[in-house]
Amino acid sequence: MPNKTVKQFYLLYNRIVSPYQAKHLSKEEKISIGAFYTPPEIVKKTVEYITPYLKNKNFTVVDLSAGAGAFILPFRDYDYRAVDYDYSVINYLRNQLDEDKVIHTNSLLKVKRSKFKIPKDNFLIITGNPPYNDITSVYKKNGKGEFVCDPDLYDNDIGICFLKAFNKLKADIVCVVHPFSYIGKRWNFVRIKDFTSNYKLVKGVLFPSTMFKYTSRTSPFAVMIALYERDEKGMTYDYIENFEFELLNTDQKFILKSYPTTDGYINKYQPRKNSLLKESPIGLYYYSFRDLNSVKRNTTFIAKKHDFSVVVTLEEFYKYAYLHCIRKLLKTEYMWLFGNLSPLVDKEFLERNKAVFVYYALQTSSTLKNFDKEVIDLIKKTYLEGFSLDLEQSKNLILEHFKNLFIIKK
Ligand SMILES: C[S@@+](CC[C@H](N)C(=O)[O-])C[C@H]1O[C@@H](n2cnc3c(N)ncnc32)[C@H](O)[C@@H]1O
Repeated sequence: MPNKTVKQFYLLYNRIVSPYQAKHLSKEEKISIGAFYTPPEIVKKTVEYITPYLKNKNFTVVDLSAGAGAFILPFRDYDYRAVDYDYSVINYLRNQLDEDKVIHTNSLLKVKRSKFKIPKDNFLIITGNPPYNDITSVYKKNGKGEFVCDPDLYDNDIGICFLKAFNKLKADIVCVVHPFSYIGKRWNFVRIKDFTSNYKLVKGVLFPSTMFKYTSRTSPFAVMIALYERDEKGMTYDYIENFEFELLNTDQKFILKSYPTTDGYINKYQPRKNSLLKESPIGLYYYSFRDLNSVKRNTTFIAKKHDFSVVVTLEEFYKYAYLHCIRKLLKTEYMWLFGNLSPLVDKEFLERNKAVFVYYALQTSSTLKNFDKEVIDLIKKTYLEGFSLDLEQSKNLILEHFKNLFIIKK
């Protein structure tokens, strides 16, 4: 290509590849490589958090999933690496940045500092917004073939593979954007043990996934700007449960411990252990649930045992009635924050007001309306003796309770 044409080509390309929007990719391509570029406001915060560490003598700032370079461009006057396996953005970046510092590769394969030309003793700062998606579904659906990464980095969620890679590179600082659930959910926290036992969270700012353009997920979820420092003592889940997270652009704080959930109180899944009841003595089941989003999405009571059913007993009926009420009545502006957690519950309130939830469920569940009359009579006898509220009053009481429960506490 003659020089002039090359220039014109890049002028056009600059307009197509924007640092903040993957305009050059189709919707399917964006989903398949997780190319949801980060809005400037979020990038700005990471730069702010990284800046104090730039006083270290020899440092390198690295983004292993650089996209169009939004996180790296602010550090162009320092030593940096911008890495991506989307060839079109790499071409663009080579035109914007120092060619030697732009690397086209799979960042999760043969991970070591020398592969990325990072000096072995340099203070390493990792930044960026690694893709997050379930590789099993994404890679199968898009016919992309096998997902390849180092065996010690493997996980079903590609974002978790990236966190493990940061640890493998012994990054001193990790200041990235990732789903809150990676550390907010106890099970995930354990799953990324390699990372959590070597890093300590210093700052965590939460915001809704809807701030990303073109996201296709129907349920918004909490994303986090996280600043971690390498620390050989790592962190415990207890540390995370008591951590004061900030909510972006507000002065509100979010401490997980202040929001008790149904975990350990209401069974979520079908029983696996032999010691647990597999058949319901009253022939009633509830659709299993992973988190609040699935409670809102799925059906509630079911009359037949199912692969995805949880056993409902007479003694625990009120707990599932509570979930049914959440499914029917809960509305909150903080669904993005609570949706990926187990449903919140004020156990004391529920124990004191079993009848309200039971009554509302009996009146509004089609399964229960058509269920074995003897069982329904037994439920009424157990829970509703002396209960005097009507449907409207019960509904209002529950709505008021949810309104006060699913909010950010001061
Ligand atoms: C969520 S986008 C982030 C882009 C950019 N950092 C931003 O936030 O604006 C994720 C990027 O990771 C890249 N990517 C996904 N898997 C990768 C891998 N295994 N190795 C290198 N890059 C990868 C995609 O091509 C995409 O550009």
